[in-house]
Amino acid sequence: MVVLDGKATSAQIRAELAEKVKVLKAEGKKVPHLAAILVGEDGASRTYVNAKVRDCEEVGYGSTLIKLPEETSESELLKAIHKLNNDEDVDGYIVQLPLPNHIDETKVLLAIDPKKDVDGFHPENVGKMTLNLPTYIPATPQGIVEILRRYNVPTEGKDCVVIGRSQIVGSPMSILLSQHNYPGNCTVTLCHSRTKNLRQVCKKADIIVAALGQPGFVTADMVKEGACIIDVGITRVDDSSKKSGFRLLGDVDYNAVATKCSYITPVPGGVGPMTRAALMLNTMKVIELS
Ligand code: GUN
Repeated sequence: MVVLDGKATSAQIRAELAEKVKVLKAEGKKVPHLAAILVGEDGASRTYVNAKVRDCEEVGYGSTLIKLPEETSESELLKAIHKLNNDEDVDGYIVQLPLPNHIDETKVLLAIDPKKDVDGFHPENVGKMTLNLPTYIPATPQGIVEILRRYNVPTEGKDCVVIGRSQIVGSPMSILLSQHNYPGNCTVTLCHSRTKNLRQVCKKADIIVAALGQPGFVTADMVKEGACIIDVGITRVDDSSKKSGFRLLGDVDYNAVATKCSYITPVPGGVGPMTRAALMLNTMKVIELS
């Protein structure tokens, strides 16, 4: 069994990007600049956004963090977005989700300039991804594809089950793994809350991507011997023994499943760091696509 080490792989990606930044600087070219808008005080969102800023510093990108209060109105947020759209120094930016309930997420995502949409959430970029055209791929599926590639995990002709149909992870993941690419060329089944016989469906899978946000959902009896298991879950549960006051739990019963599978991503240290690395890759792509 091989542990797909997202921590080490993402560190490698950051080192590669830092080298690219050095070359850009040496050639007198512009260094990528990533901005993030964070609305409100959600603890997890704050942690993710701060980590993205740290990644930028490590790689040598410029970064800007725009923190707006919880009570920011939709029109104020849209103003901040228009400002970033018109800021020539900012190559790409993200609006951290979820947004407070009084803000229409779709309206916000539609306002982002597709050329700066390093999350790949704008319909124009979702369309390009679906057509396998060059674009920004949402960070979590992109990070998963990247770790499969770097570990040479076989995917061609494999039966892949994706659990969870979110627009950020499950849906794009199912599209990417079915495309005529490596990693890809899988026969994909996209499962969700209404899927019948989910356990039996999973049992036949060569690759399972668990992205439903239910800790320990994928148990050993659902997994075929030798399967590849990708765990996207990062549920926070209280743990007073930790400095942070919580620990992260994946969607997979890791200890039991690890004894049966051929590859597995741990939580933490698997998909999470790869997601952050993918955002850094997308931000470099803005320069490369322009
Ligand atoms: N919230 C959870 N995941 C993501 C992500 O990939 N991008 C943004 N913008 N918000 C998120």
